[in-house]
Amino acid sequence: MKITFLSIFPESFSSFLSFPVIERAVRNGLVDIEVKDIKDCTDGSFRAIDDSPYGGGAGLLLRVDALCNALSAVADASSRTILMGPKGKMFTQKMAHELAEEEHIILIAGHYEGVDERFRRYVDDEVSIGDYVLTGGESAAIVVAEAVIRLLDGVLRGKSSKEESFEDGILEYPQYTHPSVYDKAEVPEVLLGGNREEISRFCEFEAIRDTIRLRPDLLEEDRNFNFFSLHRDYRNESGIIRWLANRLPVPEILYEDDRYLVLSRPKGRTLASAERERILKTMAAVLKMLWSIDISDCPYDESLGKIVSGQRDRRLSYEAWRLIDESERIQMSEDMVFSHGSLRLDRIFVNGNGISCIIDMQYAGIADRYRDLASAIKLLEKEGIGMEEFINALDFDIDEKKLEVFLRIVNVL
Ligand code: ADE
Repeated sequence: MKITFLSIFPESFSSFLSFPVIERAVRNGLVDIEVKDIKDCTDGSFRAIDDSPYGGGAGLLLRVDALCNALSAVADASSRTILMGPKGKMFTQKMAHELAEEEHIILIAGHYEGVDERFRRYVDDEVSIGDYVLTGGESAAIVVAEAVIRLLDGVLRGKSSKEESFEDGILEYPQYTHPSVYDKAEVPEVLLGGNREEISRFCEFEAIRDTIRLRPDLLEEDRNFNFFSLHRDYRNESGIIRWLANRLPVPEILYEDDRYLVLSRPKGRTLASAERERILKTMAAVLKMLWSIDISDCPYDESLGKIVSGQRDRRLSYEAWRLIDESERIQMSEDMVFSHGSLRLDRIFVNGNGISCIIDMQYAGIADRYRDLASAIKLLEKEGIGMEEFINALDFDIDEKKLEVFLRIVNVL
């Protein structure tokens, strides 16, 4: 890869070029770095580089003609041109990865009060390194170049950059070195033992805990990390999972506070990637498993009656109200079981021949048997598995009228 800095102060880059990691990367041919002086691309006359703004205002602006001349002296068809400036897109680790894939990046350091507005249409991107104003873009260009260069193959020896902060969208885990005790503060015991698996589990967990504590803004979106699933605790999902712990294969709760819930990563693969026969058998086994749970002391009520009495937090559409009302009028017999409430193939994990985990429990609780039955039938239909076949696999006498009502209810709830 090649990186070109365009600047009116080329000497600003000399200390960067002498950083050991950067020097070695250049020496080993992993990156080619060019520093181009914008002044060399002008006729050298007074005011050829910068001038005062039309309409007045403080300071000087870099001229569009000087910048364009400099850019055409270094750019070719493979170049990605980036103007450094506080109005730009915020630089992130994700962007560093994107840029590390480029053949040639040109980082243009603005200066004085900025650049002539017309220059913006000659660049691919404008990038800022933070919400503050520097006197020039040189140090910002160095920040970007350093973050990109260290991602290039062969630049970092030993340690993989993948373990670091932001690589999974979270902060890096805390690290310790000698002495093992300092001012009564001890290195966590697990790190002193040699159990690799325990250490890596500890590190992953601490990374998540630090992120929740120090940078919760990184966690605002629901996201699936490599190792854990982390999200807000929807509708007391943690309570439901705790109640289910010895009754159903559910994820382990690794961390929870009043905002976040960190769950262990399910083992195995999801049913969404399984073949037809496996899907049919597993879905039948999941329903049987759910229905065999003793609900006598289950505190989670998801029955239609509970929904109607408004004790549930879901807002109902008029259509849903109408259907539930209709279901009451035809006096369906209630057949209460433990129900998942939002079954999907990618929420069921299989391992070998068994079910290793069922996730997304926020709507689980006591409800009519037909609630999960109806959603399973719908799911299987999409996989080309007919209702007859499924009911046979379930070994179950179906009440068609009741099923019809529930098929409509699960659609609107
Ligand atoms: N030039 C001046 N301020 C800057 C910033 N915050 N980011 C990038 N370039 C800049």
